[in-house]
Amino acid sequence: MTARLIDGKALAASVRAGLKPRIEALAARGQRPGLAVILVGDDPASAVYVRNKVKACEENGIRSWFEHLPAQTSESELLARIAALNANPDVHGILVQLPLPKHLDAQKILETIAFDKDVDGLHATNAGLTLMGRPHFRSCTPYGVMKMLESIAYPLRGAHAVVLGRSNMVGKPMAMLLLAANATVTICHSATRDLASITRQADVLVAAVGKLKLVTADMVRPGAVVIDVGTNRTPDGKLAGDVDFDAVREVAGWISPVPGGVGPMTITMLLVNTVEAAERAAARSPSAIGRRPTEPHI
Ligand code: GUN
Repeated sequence: MTARLIDGKALAASVRAGLKPRIEALAARGQRPGLAVILVGDDPASAVYVRNKVKACEENGIRSWFEHLPAQTSESELLARIAALNANPDVHGILVQLPLPKHLDAQKILETIAFDKDVDGLHATNAGLTLMGRPHFRSCTPYGVMKMLESIAYPLRGAHAVVLGRSNMVGKPMAMLLLAANATVTICHSATRDLASITRQADVLVAAVGKLKLVTADMVRPGAVVIDVGTNRTPDGKLAGDVDFDAVREVAGWISPVPGGVGPMTITMLLVNTVEAAERAAARSPSAIGRRPTEPHI
């Protein structure tokens, strides 16, 4: 059996199309959604991610502010920038790109973002609300994976979902969203014994470790849904996930590719969260028509 593809690129396009009228409705009231993205330092991969996020905003009618701060930026300088964005009513979402330079305490920085502007879903309050089954902002990658499962109408109730990886950004919130959808969830990590015996029980297998070809065909139950969150480089420089795609696709029932799977959905869910943040702000405040917009500063 050859697995059917879960096309993240096509799904992302359809989710973005669904956002368009919502963005236009907000813009018509003078409340165009706005996202501020902060990058500290010169990590080349982060620079690419950030550029893609800003570009996605531009393509979809969302205002963006990109603040590129030097690697030696102090904690107090960064906190001051976040405080200014928290106070700016035109900014509905704030994202601090991770990883941060080593001298900065990432969790402390993330916690400084107003939780109702934390469109990344990484603030402790948002993580906690997701844990409690009443999410305010869901972490973008797990949120995108849930949309992918929804797109194939996969019946998660009672299904065994196995998550590989326990990061705060993907593994843990992924497990919580699957649990909220009534899946039976197992989280595996670097200390898990006999990984294959667990993955072979999975109806849904989500790989979010960051290790090339971690998931091989013998680790997958025939017909299972395999979602690949990994972003790795092959020895010849190509982008590839955590799953041995060519082999696993012969066993799985559904599989998401890398590139073209989870990646486009992560950015799309960031746009969804930003639009939701703007809609909530609009519901709280009267029309902003007539108010002078603040100038973007690059
Ligand atoms: N670094 C890699 N992916 C992400 C993400 O989704 N959000 C943030 N803030 N940093 C990242």
